[in-house]
Amino acid sequence: MRRKVIAGNWKMNMLPDETIKFIDEIAPLVKDTKNEVILCVPYTDLFYALLTVQNTNIKIGAQNMHWEENGAYTGEVSGKMLKVIGVEYVIIGHSERRQYYAETDETVNKKIKSAFANELKPIVCVGETLEQREEGKTEEIIKQQTRLALEGLSNEQVKNVIIAYEPIWAIGTGKTATSEDANSSIKSIRKEIESIYGKEVSEQVIIQYGGSVKSEIAKELFETSDIDGGLVGGASLKVEEFSKIVNYDKN
Ligand code: 13P
Repeated sequence: MRRKVIAGNWKMNMLPDETIKFIDEIAPLVKDTKNEVILCVPYTDLFYALLTVQNTNIKIGAQNMHWEENGAYTGEVSGKMLKVIGVEYVIIGHSERRQYYAETDETVNKKIKSAFANELKPIVCVGETLEQREEGKTEEIIKQQTRLALEGLSNEQVKNVIIAYEPIWAIGTGKTATSEDANSSIKSIRKEIESIYGKEVSEQVIIQYGGSVKSEIAKELFETSDIDGGLVGGASLKVEEFSKIVNYDKN
């Protein structure tokens, strides 16, 4: 049985004092869950978040990284820099980064390799646009993004990648994918991994759903056969709502 992993992606939100308050408030509400809880916070909140989650079951992730260890890359942060301060996870290839900052399947692949080289666990985002969906290309696009993202990784590394299937039309729109649709896309991602790395690997990869995840629909989504949790944007900024999503399997 794969574990469920529920990660918040705060995007460009929250100041250090808000981060500390949020974690202090949510920690007691999620302390008894068997699900993995991760908060991916802005770089400027990382240090405060890492200090505040000590002695809790909450893990901390960043939202991006550069693939080089250091060098003349103004404004960038490397995997090594994240690792030394205690970060465990890093989101790679979010659609907002692909769209606004020209990330490509190639840079996504380089970043994943660098994340592993620095012992960080990558959360890799894939997903189709509305146009691609309407053209019937969803499966083709997400399989291709998955294949190129994972190219050159060992079986052991692939087992430890977390993939987030995030249809772009569902992000920040309030239009959550149906559980059938999301599960079916995630199944095709798993099939693609199986065709390259074998069933033993594909059965272990955690594949989340992201895109307007809310507490009312979390249970339905996460209890399907192939959805192993969620990458949550807007709803992860609210203590009560995010704690309900994490505790979807209680009561
Ligand atoms: P929303 O949950 O706000 O739609 O964002 C999803 C997302 O992009 C998470 O990475």
